[in-house]
Amino acid sequence: MRMGNSYICFIQIIDNMKKIIAVASFTAVLMASCTQKATTAATPAAAVSTAEQIAQGKTIFENSCGRCHKLPDPASHTSVQWVGIMNSMAPKAKLTDEQHQWVYDYIVSAKK
Ligand code: HEC
Repeated sequence: MRMGNSYICFIQIIDNMKKIIAVASFTAVLMASCTQKATTAATPAAAVSTAEQIAQGKTIFENSCGRCHKLPDPASHTSVQWVGIMNSMAPKAKLTDEQHQWVYDYIVSAKK
């Protein structure tokens, strides 16, 4: 009788451990997926131009921005001033939104 009781008790411990392991591994999976999400969210959205796009910006700048006036010097204005200038000049040069961005990124990179 005593043996039988402790056997049942042992089974119950195993059963409880199974539950604990199940909860623990579920939590681990949950944490892993949350960590992955956080890592993805921390990656900045692709707003920064590549070197290739900046090179294209330079070409567009040299071809389009010297037509009506002397080619401006990137260092002659701050990057904040260039935002406003590009907003008024990009339509004059008939740039697309992408070209506008590339030329701006080129100008800012050329300032440094
Ligand atoms: C269709 C003609 C035309 C094109 C193309 C053009 N501009 Fe201009 N730009 C002007 C005129 C006109 C002015 C002077 C009046 C004004 O500010 O609107 C000017 C002024 C400027 C100034 C002086 C602004 C200031 O506040 O001192 C800068 C810098 C400039 N342009 C940059 C550019 C850049 C960069 C491009 C190429 C994306 C460009 N422009 C293309 C006509 C043009």
